[in-house]
Amino acid sequence: MYFPKEVEIIEVGPRDGLQNESQFVPTALKKELIKKLSATGVRRIETASFVHPRAVPQMADAQEIVEFCKEINLDFIVLTPNMKALQLAIDAGVKQIAVFVGASETFNQKNINRSIEESLQECVNMFAKAKEHNLFIRGYVSMCFSCPYEGAVSFDQVERVVRHFVQHGVDEISIGDTNGQATPKIVYERFKRLLELFPNTVFVAHFHDTNGFAYANTIAAIQAGIKKFDSSIAGLGGCPFSPGATGNISTKKLVELLHKMDIETGIDEQSLQLANQFAKQLID
Ligand code: HMG
Ligand code: MG
Repeated sequence: MYFPKEVEIIEVGPRDGLQNESQFVPTALKKELIKKLSATGVRRIETASFVHPRAVPQMADAQEIVEFCKEINLDFIVLTPNMKALQLAIDAGVKQIAVFVGASETFNQKNINRSIEESLQECVNMFAKAKEHNLFIRGYVSMCFSCPYEGAVSFDQVERVVRHFVQHGVDEISIGDTNGQATPKIVYERFKRLLELFPNTVFVAHFHDTNGFAYANTIAAIQAGIKKFDSSIAGLGGCPFSPGATGNISTKKLVELLHKMDIETGIDEQSLQLANQFAKQLID
């Protein structure tokens, strides 16, 4: 078994964690959560999405959240599904964007109302413009293992989106088990193959924990060579367009697991406990 000295955890709770909550979380409380998360030592936090408020009402306060993230000097990521979103991000002074495309056709249609081909075309212009503005580009590939609408997703479907992202100069690619159905075997095999095919690309593992396999999947991804992981405070999360999926892997449990194996994250467990409690209360 391989155990690296250090991995990076990217906190996605304020975005992926909250986006699925039916009750609107007041902006002031979101800011408090972001502040508590930033005090843990986590390096990057995904805090908002420039999406249509009809599609994801919880992210309607993205502008105000972005202003706050700048005020506190946070290294933060914002979701931008299309050119309109990218322009909003540029105008707001965002430095790290995340584009997202599904590996399965039906999910991509339901999520962003476009075919995969249309989304990939939009990415060409978005990446070019983002680069003109020196933005860091995270590319998400969703439903990389299976899809709630189509069932099994092949490696070729994942590779198609990854290759396109790489060709257009993505800075990192987050591979999503959006509906939380992956197992360590397929996780190990897919990450191993991705790293063989794209040795110069930075990959991140993004696990949802629907079946309770996310921690086992993390260990499998580490064995394949992955050193970056998305996680969400208090295990909150889910995608409104991924029926049946539950929260992301929990930051607190993931950090505990890694630290117990002497893998450093730079995150302070006591501060994380405070953020975790606060996040749980938000949802209660
Ligand atoms: P659309 O209806 O196809 O957009 O939505 P359109 O281009 O046809 O425009 C229609 C209207 O929307 C126009 O307004 C546009 O201005 C407006 P009108 O003229 O009617 O007044 N519009 C926008 N408004 C706000 N923000 C925008 C925007 N773009 C156009 N960016 C759209 C397309 C992508 C906007 C919509 O489908 C949408 O907002 N989807 C949200 C998808 C989403 O946020 N999903 C959850 C995140 S993905 C996820 O969770 C997976 C992930 O965690 C990884 C994993 O787990 O695998 C990342
Ligand atoms: Mg997700």
